[in-house]
Amino acid sequence: MTPRLSGKVGIVVGAGQTPGETVGNGRAAAILFAREGARLLLVDRRLDSAQETAETIRVEGGTAECCEADWTSRSDCARFTAACVDSFGRIDFLHNNVGIGTGDADPLRLEEEAFDRILNVNLKGCLLSCQAVVPVMRDQGSGSVVNVSSLAAVASTPLTAYKISKAGMNALGQSLAMSNARHGIRVNTIMPGLMDTPMAVEGTAEAQGMTRDQVRDFRNQLVPLRRKMGTAWDVAYASLFLHSDEAGFITGVVLPVDGGQAARIG
Ligand SMILES: NC(=O)c1ccc[n+]([C@@H]2O[C@H](COP(=O)([O-])OP(=O)(O)OC[C@H]3O[C@@H](n4cnc5c(N)ncnc54)[C@H](O)[C@@H]3O)[C@@H](O)[C@H]2O)c1
Repeated sequence: MTPRLSGKVGIVVGAGQTPGETVGNGRAAAILFAREGARLLLVDRRLDSAQETAETIRVEGGTAECCEADWTSRSDCARFTAACVDSFGRIDFLHNNVGIGTGDADPLRLEEEAFDRILNVNLKGCLLSCQAVVPVMRDQGSGSVVNVSSLAAVASTPLTAYKISKAGMNALGQSLAMSNARHGIRVNTIMPGLMDTPMAVEGTAEAQGMTRDQVRDFRNQLVPLRRKMGTAWDVAYASLFLHSDEAGFITGVVLPVDGGQAARIG
């Protein structure tokens, strides 16, 4: 069988990961895209972490270059876009995986600094990344963008700034899809639910003073499907489909990957 991303070139932004026991969404997606034949530029503000992802890909025989960049900087976004074109000659897909939530709180306790930081990283960074890369796709007359949002955009959560930033990403994805459809560019959004990743498990354990197993037990109980969180590979496989030609008539969707949590909301 031909690999599903054979011949394609992609950028994964946030291709490193928070340290921890399991694999993160960005790293899993990058590894899977490479296994399916894509050549990749791996972008992260932590170069060492992107390089770990690249090393795994190279050991498996894949192709990945790295670029240290902060996607909240317009000039950094221009730099990683140019780096991808310089290395591989084109950009077929852009995978926007960056997201943070540290310091978030309910609306009355949320501090201005945390609100500004989370909105800046999660929402403005995504906009700047798209503003840099989509013009290259327009020149090519084709491209796929997947933005990694969160079910928190539509579910109840005490994480106010995170929720607002992800709801903004959902809206941004639909605007981008509509304004780029005639250029042959598809833009889709994934809302992961509760995933067993270091960002969520180690991050919550540290913030709440719980053990990792306590965090896992609590999160597992909230998932309708088998009472078990998903993994980064679940998000990666949905992303693979959306970037592949199999999804050639799909644009503007906001896809939950959540073991049924969105169905519970209704
Ligand atoms: N894990 C979950 O349960 C869950 C649930 C819903 C949504 N998500 C979303 O999944 C995405 C990330 O998942 P992950 O497991 O890969 O997280 P992660 O924290 O492991 O990886 C994110 C990467 O982004 C990088 N990064 C952070 N700020 C950056 C910036 N300004 N510029 C460039 N790189 C930056 C980090 O260094 C890190 O390597 C996020 O968008 C998150 O909101 C996760």
